[in-house]
Amino acid sequence: MPIPKAELHLHIEGTLEPELALSLAARNGVDLPYAGTDDLRKAYEFEDLRSFLDLYYALMAVLRTEADFEELAEAYLARAAAQGVRHAEIFFDPQAHTARGLGIGTVIEGLARALDRAPERHGISTRLIMCFLRDEPAASAMETLEAARPYLHLITGIGLDSAEAGNPPSKFREVYEEAARLGLRRVAHAGEEGPPEYIGQALDLLGVERVDHGLRCVEDPELVRRLARERVPLTLCPLSNVRLRAVGTLKEHPLPHMMAAGLLCTVNSDDPAYFGGYVGDNFDAVGRTLGLGPEQLRELARNSFLAAFLDDDEERRARCLAEVESYRFG
Ligand code: ADE
Ligand code: ZN
Repeated sequence: MPIPKAELHLHIEGTLEPELALSLAARNGVDLPYAGTDDLRKAYEFEDLRSFLDLYYALMAVLRTEADFEELAEAYLARAAAQGVRHAEIFFDPQAHTARGLGIGTVIEGLARALDRAPERHGISTRLIMCFLRDEPAASAMETLEAARPYLHLITGIGLDSAEAGNPPSKFREVYEEAARLGLRRVAHAGEEGPPEYIGQALDLLGVERVDHGLRCVEDPELVRRLARERVPLTLCPLSNVRLRAVGTLKEHPLPHMMAAGLLCTVNSDDPAYFGGYVGDNFDAVGRTLGLGPEQLRELARNSFLAAFLDDDEERRARCLAEVESYRFG
């Protein structure tokens, strides 16, 4: 049994496995330019973030109905449960779907159908985090926030994703201010491919409570000290960083250095269908390749629950943390 953990950086659209993509394409009459799953898997070879995003957005064409989003989320939850996930904070990209003519309610209600039964069926509590595409105008993000108003009871927070370089957090200041007024929690991708200054902007201009990735903070020692002092959680995604070439090889990943510097690190899967592993696979890989021992893996699992948006259910957080402390590595 894997160590209990929370997953805090997971794009639900990034859990679309080739088999499900092809079966939804057939069901919905969507033409994909791939002969089969092997052919599709061959396309999962990326140069950088942009080349991944091109395929990621193209494959979303197969998602058309509430039932499709429900099936996608259900498949993720089953896999996550098998890898020890007890709590999942799930990102979704509404603009990638509304731009194709779907209603935002189709997306949210479809996902919510699977999430609602996740505690009983999979032993997983969940939160939904609505991400804005930073390579689209801020006005589009604001319109999306407006469109989501009838569904805010289903949404815990907002995030910021897609192509980072040239799209600084400052662009979304007003959207984040409005989200704060609506009582939403705030996170943002920063320092994945963008410079360390974007991490500072996310904290100072957007008021984020966690930084997604945050990898490039290591280039700025003063920023590392600040993140450590302020106990800002970072949601790292080691296998994603290798596949998108943010690091050369897993062996060169700065995670051990970041933990030694006192950063509140968590390990997550990002887009597991595309990057070769779910969150448990990421834990296994950093244990094996970076030489992290049981107590360091326990620290990562503990951090995941400390950083979770479980403020409205402290009992669950405490129960999960107790499970982490009593876990025995085999
Ligand atoms: N959308 C899905 N995965 C992403 C990533 N790793 N970075 C930015 N946007 C994303
Ligand atoms: Zn991400």
